[in-house]
Amino acid sequence: MNELNLQTAFRAAGQGNVFSFWDVLTADERRSLLAQAAEIDLAEIDRLNRTLVLPSGSSTVDLTELAPAPYEKLPEHGGDAGDWRRAQGVGEEALRHGRVAAFTVAGGQGTRLGYDGPKGTFQVTPVKQKSLFQVFAEKIAAAGRRYGRPLHWFIMTSQSNHAATEAFFAERQHFGLDRSRIHFLRQGRLPAVDFTGRIMLAGKADIALSPDGHGGSFRALHRHGAFDLMQSEGIDLISYFQVDNPLARSIDPAFLGWHLLRNSEMSSKMVPKAYPEERLGHFCVQRGRLVIVEYSDLPLALQREIDPATSQLRYLAGSIAIHVIDREFARRMATGGEGAALPFHRADKKVSTVDTAGRLVQPEKANGVKFEMFIFDALPFARNPIVIETRRADEFSPVKNAEGVDSPRTAREDQLRQFARWLAGQGVPIDTDATGLPRLSVEVSPLFGFDEDTFAESWKRLSPKPSVTDGIYLSPSS
Ligand code: UTP
Repeated sequence: MNELNLQTAFRAAGQGNVFSFWDVLTADERRSLLAQAAEIDLAEIDRLNRTLVLPSGSSTVDLTELAPAPYEKLPEHGGDAGDWRRAQGVGEEALRHGRVAAFTVAGGQGTRLGYDGPKGTFQVTPVKQKSLFQVFAEKIAAAGRRYGRPLHWFIMTSQSNHAATEAFFAERQHFGLDRSRIHFLRQGRLPAVDFTGRIMLAGKADIALSPDGHGGSFRALHRHGAFDLMQSEGIDLISYFQVDNPLARSIDPAFLGWHLLRNSEMSSKMVPKAYPEERLGHFCVQRGRLVIVEYSDLPLALQREIDPATSQLRYLAGSIAIHVIDREFARRMATGGEGAALPFHRADKKVSTVDTAGRLVQPEKANGVKFEMFIFDALPFARNPIVIETRRADEFSPVKNAEGVDSPRTAREDQLRQFARWLAGQGVPIDTDATGLPRLSVEVSPLFGFDEDTFAESWKRLSPKPSVTDGIYLSPSS
C-alpha cells in the first residue's frame, strides 16, 4: 500500500490520529512511521476494539463445567515405569531420524527482571556464568551428538531485541553450533489503543507498538517460512520452551515419545503446584477440551480445594510452559485452518504517549490497552493433547524477578542442587545444607551430561575421577 492509501485507510478506520504530526516530520521520520503503520492489520484492531476494548464491564473467564485435567504420572508417583521407558525409546528414535527442532521464545520484554539486554544473554550458571542462550545451545548440541542428527534451533526474538540477540550469537561463534541451523525470527507487534480504541503514539513519529505475546509464535514461524523449512528437512516435532528457565530440558526424548505414542498434536509438562497460591496456570478440562486457567482467573477457593481421595490439591497440575507441538498443527494455528485461531487477551497498561502538542506524557495509571496472545490457548484446538508430569527440581526454575522467588539467585541455587544431586547419585560425597544446596560451587556442562543418566555415563568414563573438594566444573574436557 502506498503512502496515500495507507493514510486514507487509517482515516477510514477512524485511526487518522496516527498521522497527526505528519506535517512536522522529517522525511526519515515519515518513512519510519509509514513502515510501522504498514505492520498494523486495521481490520484486526477494529475487531479487537469491538470485542475487547469497547464493551463495558470487565469480561469474566468461563469456569463452567471445569475439572482438573488428567496427566501421566512419573513412576515414583504411580505411573507405569514400562510406559515411560517405551516413551523414551520412541522419542530417541524420532531424534535419530532428525524429526525434532528446538524452539525458544525469547521475545519478551523481561520487565520484571529489569535487565538491560535480551533475557537470553543473562548470565545464569553458578560457576562459569554462562548465559541462558549458551546453556540451551549446549543442551541442543549435546542432543544432536547423542542421536547423531544435529538439530535446527528456532529462536523467536522481538523487534527491540532481535539485532542484539543475533550479535550476541555471532560474537560467540554461535556456541559452536552450525550457523545454518539457527534461525532467528522476529515476532509481530500490535499497537496499544486508548480506552476509546484509538491507536496510541509513543512519539510524534512512533506508534506505541509492543510484541504480540508468546502466542505470536505460530504467526512468526509461518511468516518466516519455518514450517516449509521444517517439512523439507523432515522435521515434524517442535520442542518449545521459554528463554527464562535454565533447567528446561530443551530436548527430552521421553516427552517426545509420549507425544508420539498418544498421537497428540500438542503436549505439555506439569509439575504439582508447590502451594495453593503458586502463580502457575492450571491444567483443566472443560467440555472435553484441555484448557489452561491462569492463576489470576481461578478463584482462590478452587485453588485451595483438596481432593479427599488423594489429600492433595484438586487443581494440582501447574503448567511450566514446555510443550511438544506437531508442525502441521502449528501451521493450522498460524493460518486459521479448520477454524483454529488464538484469542487475544487485553491488558490495561501505562503507555507512554504524546499529548496533542506532541509533548511526552508518562501516565500515572493505566491509560491504554495492549493485546497479547498466549501459546497455551492453542491447547483446546489440539487433537489428543496430553499432559505429562516432570520433576520440578529437574526442570523448572525460571528467572522472572530481580529478587525473591524465581530470581537469578533461586535459579542458580536450583542448578547447584541439581548438579550436587547428580554427583551424589554417583557416590561422590557432597556437603549440602538441609535443602540440598551444596556448600561448594559445582557446575556441569550439558555437553558432559544434560540429565542424570547422561551425567552418570560420562562420570563413569572419567578416570581418574577429579577431586571435588574445591568445587568443580565438569565439561567434556574434564
Ligand atoms: P513472560 O510472560 O515471563 O514475559 O514471558 P516477559 O516479557 O519475559 O517478562 P515480563 O513479564 O516483562 O517481566 C514468558 C516467555 O515468553 C516469551 C519470553 O521471552 C519468555 O521466554 N515471550 C513473551 C515472547 O517471546 N514474546 C512475548 O511477546 C512475550
